[in-house]
Amino acid sequence: MSNELPSRSDRLIARCRALAACTEVPGETTRTFLSEPMHAVHDMVRAWMEGAGMCVDVDAMGNLRGVYAAAGEAMPRLLIASHLDTVPNAGAFDGILGVLFGVALVEELQGERLPFAIEVIGFSEEEGVRFGKPFLGSLALIGALDDAWLAVRDTHGVSVDEAIRNFGLDPARMPEAVLGEDAFAYVELHIEQGPVLESEMLSLGVVSAIAGQSKLELRFLGQANHAGTTPMLRRHDAMASAAAWIVAVEQYARTRSGLVATVGRVETRPGAGNVIAGEVLATLDVRHAEDGEREQAAVELLQAAQREAEARGVRVESRAIAMQAAVPMDTALTAQLCGAAKRAGYPAPALISGAGHDAMIVGRRVPAAMLFVRNPDGLSHHPHEVVLAEDVEAGLATGMELLRGMSVARGDAACGKQGLHRAEVEDVHA
Ligand code: HGY
Ligand code: MN
Ligand code: MN
Repeated sequence: MSNELPSRSDRLIARCRALAACTEVPGETTRTFLSEPMHAVHDMVRAWMEGAGMCVDVDAMGNLRGVYAAAGEAMPRLLIASHLDTVPNAGAFDGILGVLFGVALVEELQGERLPFAIEVIGFSEEEGVRFGKPFLGSLALIGALDDAWLAVRDTHGVSVDEAIRNFGLDPARMPEAVLGEDAFAYVELHIEQGPVLESEMLSLGVVSAIAGQSKLELRFLGQANHAGTTPMLRRHDAMASAAAWIVAVEQYARTRSGLVATVGRVETRPGAGNVIAGEVLATLDVRHAEDGEREQAAVELLQAAQREAEARGVRVESRAIAMQAAVPMDTALTAQLCGAAKRAGYPAPALISGAGHDAMIVGRRVPAAMLFVRNPDGLSHHPHEVVLAEDVEAGLATGMELLRGMSVARGDAACGKQGLHRAEVEDVHA
């Protein structure tokens, strides 16, 4: 039995798996905005943060925020962050890996102070599961949420405002959550949630841009009626309309390069087997790296819904839930990240992210870059989501190189103690 200490990457993976047990649904990982299990997540991550020498607080939106002080006063701040919430029946790494990556880098510093502070943030809400609004945590960080969002209610009738108070926080303190002017960069490590790095047999990638998203809700409004007595030609079947449309959505997206379109949730009323569905709610999620393509696709898919409904004497209503433009990552910071990966010995090709990330929100205020870690089987938003220790190690080695490079770029003589040869240092300025 080896009595070796676990490697830093094994420890990071073990922590992600430990946090995956903090769930609203026993036997799977489901952790939505400020749900009860988020208290246990905060307690565990806070302990690791404080153990690494960070001062920890929770802001009014429930973001967990650990600050590792700089070597001196009035120095800038590097943000390293991702999200703590999950989709239903999630894997153990989406979001949380990026938060614990930041904690692990601070642990690696072992008390050494840099010419900048490091703030590690665990965002309270990125997936948008509980209130239908993604990015509540990072939007609060950049001060982009208006009070109207506090009134939005979840399926149990609980408002965002009540959820915040129930968690023991005070919505009135939301302005204090907003980022200060001292933040100079935002870095997020995340699993790729796709097949590219695995197909190229690479550990790491950097993100050139994050695809835009159009999230809508459609209601097909027909006529509930008796399943046994209503002739087929006299029906106004909301389910048949929605079903025909859902197939049309798939066929439309399959024929357009770079476009993905998904109907992920359907609810039917009255929902009985012997009743023709009178009403069907369906979500639509459309994504593309080019905003014009995405917007055009959303328009045409709504027109397709109208056609399928009219053919059955059914009405369709639709509402936009969230429209998010594609966001390019900061080129200079991404180049620094690439250089750090190269110095650590890892190629890191540029990828477009089909998945949304908090980087697309914080990137409105602070230069943002993302480091992708290979996702075996490309599987995510699924309990079988995995990462390889060797790839997590690649991420950590790159993160440490990035910190060193940033220190050198800020003239930190202490960097010399890191054994980083002058030549490499010149490389940073190259
Ligand atoms: O939906 C997304 O792209 C992200 O996983 N929240
Ligand atoms: Mn996700
Ligand atoms: Mn995520």
